Amino acid sequence: MLGLTTPTTATWVQTAARDLNALLIDHAHCEMKAATNALSLLGRYPDEMDLVVALTALALEELEHFKRVVDILKQRGLALGIPAKDTYAQLLRTAAGQLQGRHRERFVMVDRLLIGALIEARSCERFRLLLEILPREAPELVGFYQELFECEARHFRTYVDLAKLAAREFASEVDERFETLSRMEGKIVADLTPSAAVHG
Ligand SMILES: [Fe+2]
Ligand SMILES: [Fe+2]
Repeated sequence: MLGLTTPTTATWVQTAARDLNALLIDHAHCEMKAATNALSLLGRYPDEMDLVVALTALALEELEHFKRVVDILKQRGLALGIPAKDTYAQLLRTAAGQLQGRHRERFVMVDRLLIGALIEARSCERFRLLLEILPREAPELVGFYQELFECEARHFRTYVDLAKLAAREFASEVDERFETLSRMEGKIVADLTPSAAVHG
């Protein structure tokens, strides 16, 4: 799905279902990180105006998602708290940093955008899996996660499009680059111990 090489296991779904509150808290942090990541990317590449415009819209939408998850936390009497260590994203960035071809400054930017695409793809895949258990576990959240599933799929495409835009004369190499990064992402996901976290 969305270019992911390794599907999420049933164990992750069961783990998430057992601790939906923990999952919601982690999800809130993910939305906040998605917003700040979009802002930090546009801050790094302020001369690429198409990128600045697209990432501003994306950051706003992620912040809106954050607000809505925070509202759900509040309704459930939960606190946002300090985020857990984001092992998944850290491993993904480290692995990308070791890829050949990073000497080209342009590909540093392309990789950052493709990592954004992979994070969105994985969120999207997991929201779809959550939709299988939510009617039983928390029917009030079904509509919200259905909406987010569609948004994250769109964000995935935005990041891939921006990566091609940013690659300029190397745009034809972006699909292959994505496949390489996706295989790395698949290995990282397979090695993580399933937890009640969106990317855990
Ligand atoms: Fe989001
Ligand atoms: Fe997103």
